[in-house]
Amino acid sequence: MITKLHSSRPLSLRAFSTSPISLANRAIIFPKAGNPADVLQAQTYPSLPPPTPHSINVRYRFSPINPADINVIEGKYPAKPTQVNDLAGFKFDNGGVFVGGNEGLAVVTEVGESVEGLKKGDRVVMSKPQSGTWRSASALDVKDVMKVPDEASDGFAATMTVNLATAYNMLNDFVDLKEGDWVIQNGANSAVGQAVIQIAAHRGLKTLNFVRNRKNFDELKSQLTNLGATQVITYDELAPDSFKDLRSKVQQWTGGNPIRLFLNCVSGPTTTSLLRLLGKDAHLVSYGAMSKEPLSMPTSLFIFKNLTCHGFWQSRWYEDATEEEKRELVEKLVGLKLKEAEHEVLTIPAGDSDGVATEKVRDVVRKLAKGQYGKKVLLNIEQPVD
Ligand SMILES: NC(=O)c1ccc[n+]([C@@H]2O[C@H](COP(=O)([O-])OP(=O)(O)OC[C@H]3O[C@@H](n4cnc5c(N)ncnc54)[C@H](OP(=O)(O)O)[C@@H]3O)[C@@H](O)[C@H]2O)c1
Repeated sequence: MITKLHSSRPLSLRAFSTSPISLANRAIIFPKAGNPADVLQAQTYPSLPPPTPHSINVRYRFSPINPADINVIEGKYPAKPTQVNDLAGFKFDNGGVFVGGNEGLAVVTEVGESVEGLKKGDRVVMSKPQSGTWRSASALDVKDVMKVPDEASDGFAATMTVNLATAYNMLNDFVDLKEGDWVIQNGANSAVGQAVIQIAAHRGLKTLNFVRNRKNFDELKSQLTNLGATQVITYDELAPDSFKDLRSKVQQWTGGNPIRLFLNCVSGPTTTSLLRLLGKDAHLVSYGAMSKEPLSMPTSLFIFKNLTCHGFWQSRWYEDATEEEKRELVEKLVGLKLKEAEHEVLTIPAGDSDGVATEKVRDVVRKLAKGQYGKKVLLNIEQPVD
């Protein structure tokens, strides 16, 4: 039992407790929106009290750091996490804090007396957006989680509710695609893109996959081809002096069949160029803006190709879906036996001070911000030694 807070806690975040506490858990919090490498902080907090009748206590195993989590911390994302004034009784002044993380895989450690269908040891994922998953343990309402089927590996389960679900729904919800139809996507090496490639291949669809050029492009190309990509191309081929050649190659690959669906992860000028490869009556589905640039479309393309534009947001899908639909989606994703994007685990060991843990998390968000990182990062926050 200790009463002292872990060292290196920034003075701007004053937390206090009135009685001796055991700091048995740790969360990655931010007091206000800002640059993640400046505002994220590790914070230890006490053991959870026993769950209320309809809630469960969980221990998080893996919680991804997704691009949208970064946007949330920057204050640039429409979904906001809930501000909390305390973590398991450990109080914050100055208006409270936010816990980072939307997605995660957790193991049930205790169940409330009225909980049905879940028991200690079951694995769950979050069905409520912005659950604050970057922490070692949490109390959750049982209606805010979904049980994970036994067949799903931990890495798969931890990353399925956002990226894999998005890929699955975008390929289903907008165009009635038949075997042999073509789909274009940019950001094809993203976690969503890799899932699109695999789900499309599973359905017999062909994919035209655009990525940024890089030193190891051939390696990336063979990695995506092994997942089922039909063609992998860099945006360089969209340059004015090579576009004509690209268009002829696409004609050859598709046998002149119109491309009917474009999944846009990036936006900006390359996306505008890609629109010219679409067939008549095609659909553009935008789900990301990794270039941080707007999406613009020549009016002529809009008119003469009769394009239809949609936005897709998986969080909205969860808001509108019934519990049954959510469960079905999880079962379908698990049934597809997709390979999750390569990931590395950032473990915050039990013995780290909050200061050391803070630096580890800030380092990784800095690296991710540089781009071309190539791997998803999953946080595993061990319960600190008390
Ligand atoms: N709407 C939704 O419901 C929904 C759901 C899931 C994800 N998303 C969004 O989808 C996007 C991808 O998410 P993810 O988790 O799959 O990402 P990820 O695995 O972290 O991959 C990021 C991708 O973005 C590319 N990229 C980064 N900066 C870029 C730039 N300036 N120009 C062009 N490409 C750039 C990366 O290419 P390099 O390898 O070349 O860096 C990589 O392909 C994010 O914007 C995310 O917020 C939206």
